[in-house]
Amino acid sequence: MDQNQKKEAVANAALKFVKPDTIVGVGTGSTVNYFIDGLAAMKNEINGAVSSSKASTQRLKDHGIHVYELNEVDELDIYIDGADEVTEHKHMIKGGGAALTQEKIVAAVARQFICIVDDTKRVPLLGKFPLPVEVIPMGRSYVARELVRLGGDPVYRQGVVTDNSNVILDVHNLDILDPRELEAKINNIAGVVTNGLFARRGADIVLCADENEVRQFG
Ligand code: 5RP
Repeated sequence: MDQNQKKEAVANAALKFVKPDTIVGVGTGSTVNYFIDGLAAMKNEINGAVSSSKASTQRLKDHGIHVYELNEVDELDIYIDGADEVTEHKHMIKGGGAALTQEKIVAAVARQFICIVDDTKRVPLLGKFPLPVEVIPMGRSYVARELVRLGGDPVYRQGVVTDNSNVILDVHNLDILDPRELEAKINNIAGVVTNGLFARRGADIVLCADENEVRQFG
């Protein structure tokens, strides 16, 4: 299986977690796109979806799946999303697609976070993938200096504006030994909207596709 086939396989495995008559929390990215395409075949069994980005909203609507605003919904049974890195503790780095803030909000509401990845994303330690940080534009230089004080090398993601009209700093070379602590520390910098560490609210289940099968952790 190539990487796209693995993404499709793990996305299809996640469909089994979707319960009838529920609203499904939907993440963002190429793996999730396969999930959305698979969900289309079940659209008459579910009540609709809550989306974490403009891109996923558009794809859901193109399939005729009703998209609710998160504010219209009291609870979500599941949230399905990919990751850029995930550990055995189910801590993740997310935000490669710049949708981290809305992803974090939808994940916070969901009872169960199901992370769908291929085996290239499983790592012993987070941080090889540069950590995305969403920043209010006027705070960009200040936040970058603070991130350097934390030991990272922030790089401005040129040409990218998030769905919330903010910018992204990708932080290279961080030693992420305590993801929960670093997540809180970075979120405490004035001007940071959120960062791509998902450790305080990690995944509940990780589905991971390798060459032969989809394995479930958790
Ligand atoms: C978007 C994300 C994605 O989940 C993450 O980047 C993985 O994407 P892909 O499935 O395309 O590899 O966090 O902000």
